[in-house]
Amino acid sequence: MRTQVGIVGAGPAGLTLAMLLHREGIDCIVLENRDRAYVEKRVRAGLLEQNTVDLMRQLNVADRLDTEGLEHNGIYLRYDGKNHYVDMAGLTGRHITIYGQQEVVKDLTNALLERDVQVLFEVSDVELHDIETDQPRITYKHDGQEHELICDVIAGCDGFHGISRPTIAEHLTEYEYEYQFGWLGILAEAEPATDELIYAWHENGFALYTMRSQTISRLYLQVDADEDIENWPDGRIWDELKTRLGNVNDGNIFDKGITPMRTYVAEPMQHGRLFLAGDSAHIVPPTGAKGLNLAVNDVRLLAPGLTELIKNSSSERLDGYTEAALHRVWRAQDFSNYMTQMLHDLGGGPFQRRMQLARLAYVERSEAAARSLAENYVGLPAQSGF
Ligand code: FAD
Ligand code: PHB
Repeated sequence: MRTQVGIVGAGPAGLTLAMLLHREGIDCIVLENRDRAYVEKRVRAGLLEQNTVDLMRQLNVADRLDTEGLEHNGIYLRYDGKNHYVDMAGLTGRHITIYGQQEVVKDLTNALLERDVQVLFEVSDVELHDIETDQPRITYKHDGQEHELICDVIAGCDGFHGISRPTIAEHLTEYEYEYQFGWLGILAEAEPATDELIYAWHENGFALYTMRSQTISRLYLQVDADEDIENWPDGRIWDELKTRLGNVNDGNIFDKGITPMRTYVAEPMQHGRLFLAGDSAHIVPPTGAKGLNLAVNDVRLLAPGLTELIKNSSSERLDGYTEAALHRVWRAQDFSNYMTQMLHDLGGGPFQRRMQLARLAYVERSEAAARSLAENYVGLPAQSGF
């Protein structure tokens, strides 16, 4: 089999890239190792920057996002038992939208299949070959048979645990940091008791109040990285959420899990004819809500480079992909780590806690500080080149 761009991974990065390439008339195939139902149910991010929403609209995949997405104007920072509002829309003129990642994935998958773009689920033993040549190959198994896909270029969109990055590990420099804590996340059948997201600083640790709809709440608690979910029966979760967040509506919990928190970048994001995008190249702590948005931004930059290579045999734009993408990646790293370190119990005792409170009070008191937080949170405009 032959295609122009072989895409490994049907997450936000791989699926958005396929839509962007299809729009340019470029042939691609997406290979995903999980089954479709699993990918469409996997609970992850929920907050879309305006850039991401705008791109989904340009790709004509935003009908449901426009009707079911919840547009937000700001966030509350909670400390000393009070909520302090940061008016993001007032400070930046831009909005954020709550819409579950799995809904984005469903919309993109449906749109691709409607356009006859191949998305193959349940492939296994995916391996990349000859990436230093202009005919890289992907071998894999599907429906019990072995296949070979010859490509012009391969896009490694297979997340943090995929096979693309390890294939070029010897050519990469890695930057990483692992926090000693993680997030316990729940989904509950409960009307959110807040109009905007609440990011809470508390002596017991961080908590976040977010949502998926008028009837579904999503909440997170900072817990130790090696914490066992068995130690957290539902009653204990609600008690702790109420301690850290104040007014919380409880209800039936239908999903819960613990995610460790780490931060990671691999540079460069390309080698030969393999290009990494999204979590396969970088991970941020979720406190800044940047992971999904960065994945979409990477492919927004990658698609025109691939198009120029394939249509005009020019690699100039593609050669600059890493540099273009890394501007936003490192900005997001700095912001996500700033939010994480301002709001979580980092284990540094009373002095560190007072420093965090001083930072929070500065955001409340200074419009310049609030604006800096706001412009990072809503995402700098995509038109600025990177
Ligand atoms: P992924 O979504 O990981 O997609 C990669 C795809 O590749 C997957 O479908 C995977 O099954 C597939 N794949 C992997 N290996 C192979 C292989 N060998 N062959 C074929 N296919 C393969 N971000 C936020 O902004 N806010 C959040 O609240 C948040 N919560 C998160 C919670 C969890 C548990 C996790 C893991 C991540 C969370 N993130 C969050 C991060 C965000 O979800 C990611 O940044 C986003 O999914 C990145 O998209 P992606 O397409 O790069 O990677
Ligand atoms: C979410 O809605 O899941 C969410 C929102 C904001 C974050 C992280 C997660 O910072």
